Amino acid sequence: MHTSNALAPSLFLLCSSPLSPLALSLSVCSGLPIFSSASDQLDAAGRAPGLGGPLGGASSGQPSALGAGGGGRASMSGVSRRPGVPPLLSDGSLDYDALYDDEDECDIGTMEAHGSVVTHLLSQVKIGMDLTRVVLPTFILERRSLLEMYSDYFAHPDYFLKIADFKDPKDRMVQVVRWYMSAYHAGRKSSVAKKPYNPILGELFYCHWNVPGLPAGVEPVVPDGPVPWCDRNQLTFIAEQVSHHPPISAFYAEHYNKRISFCAHVWTKSKFLGLSVGVHNIGQGCVSVLEYDEEYIVTFPNGYGRSILTVPWIELGGPVTISCAKTGFSATIEFHTKPFYGGRKHRISGEVFQPGDKKAFLSISGEWNGSMQAKWADGRTEGFLNVNEIPIVKKIVRPISEQDEMESRRLWKEVTAGLRFNDIDKATNAKTDLEQRQRDEAKDRKDRNIRWETKSFRELGDNWVYVSPLVNRVPKNGTADPSCCPEQR
Ligand SMILES: *[C@@H]1O[C@H](CO)[C@@H](O)[C@H](O)[C@H]1NC(C)=O
Ligand SMILES: *[C@@H]1O[C@H](CO)[C@@H](O)[C@H](O)[C@H]1NC(C)=O
Repeated sequence: MHTSNALAPSLFLLCSSPLSPLALSLSVCSGLPIFSSASDQLDAAGRAPGLGGPLGGASSGQPSALGAGGGGRASMSGVSRRPGVPPLLSDGSLDYDALYDDEDECDIGTMEAHGSVVTHLLSQVKIGMDLTRVVLPTFILERRSLLEMYSDYFAHPDYFLKIADFKDPKDRMVQVVRWYMSAYHAGRKSSVAKKPYNPILGELFYCHWNVPGLPAGVEPVVPDGPVPWCDRNQLTFIAEQVSHHPPISAFYAEHYNKRISFCAHVWTKSKFLGLSVGVHNIGQGCVSVLEYDEEYIVTFPNGYGRSILTVPWIELGGPVTISCAKTGFSATIEFHTKPFYGGRKHRISGEVFQPGDKKAFLSISGEWNGSMQAKWADGRTEGFLNVNEIPIVKKIVRPISEQDEMESRRLWKEVTAGLRFNDIDKATNAKTDLEQRQRDEAKDRKDRNIRWETKSFRELGDNWVYVSPLVNRVPKNGTADPSCCPEQR
């Protein structure tokens, strides 16, 4: 159960690799960079068993993770970090909420200014230092939790809600695909791979969106919804870390008036692949369109953190499927990884099928971070989606001062503040505290032989489902409009 177990394979690989001079420093940063792995192998604070020991005993004070320049390159400290003036509240305390509104995060400046991950790590290593304190360069740490990242599936909430507006099942299918393809760019704007925090067990994240064209604050609130202070015109979102080993996140979103919801769970499984880290995103999501009693099952692409020895970048890869058992429409989408030599990044291609047809009625190609084209069976071509031309709708999160103890931003606020102001000791200590608490609680449960109880999701077969989905709270249309769904007649 030790959280560092996940490290073992990558550590051995690194240590026995021809890169041995680097191996030590790399292994301490424990499997390195990257994003959506929920395993603790990406723990910046290391704690690689047996490695901290031999050299770690005589800690010669805390190395500054920030100060050292990257191997003669420009100093890494403060690069586009603008330590600046901390945002303060009127009582003089730090405004933690404002740290999350920092839109400039993506603008990390040129990579030349950062140097590589390796030079950054080497710059910290001093004789006799405690290697467990070597930290990841802040430019690859994202200052938010993985649970919050999942909410980016709804960065274009209007695209999601529009699914329910179409009267024709074919149009609904196409819109599900369009929404799905709009879902990946918002959280991955940076060209450098960013690794969000691994949520701790029981962590929760709530947010909502005001949807363009649907006025907020005029409709009644939905007190039994996932975000009980929101109204019927707002899209609401809840995420919970439902398991730590294996790391599984569950999330759910709904819009009351449009009678549409989405429920998903993702089990992240990381694999060290030599020069990159692969994260399998195992699980599925389900779009429920209550008006038509339809469910669209979607799967997720894998993530890859490439070039982990230099400047890591992220790509998505693998096939995903979208299908509706009731109408028989289905789609397959391939996220293409970049060929080793040449080739473009972030390419996708996809095909959408009518029930029973082998030939697609719609083909899609392009890039998930750019524009995608549609080619219809009759030869017509047109723009399908251009994610850079549609505005991201900002999610709304209640202030940390009003949050429950287990909510992401409240849990991680000291880590976020530490990273934001380059106080890496503070960030590392806060993170270590959280993780230690998690370990202690796990041990305590084990000793007392009690199971962890999830709060808002429960396991159902192979899935994790929200305990009180919209379909259980509003009248359901058992009989869909016959003109839309011929098989219903
Ligand atoms: C998509 O990402 C790649 C790699 O980061 C970048 O080269 C390309 O310019 C991006 N495309 C758009 C349209 O932003
Ligand atoms: C579904 O039910 C709602 C409200 O009960 C009704 O307004 C709507 O017309 C129904 N739709 C279909 C397709 O039967």
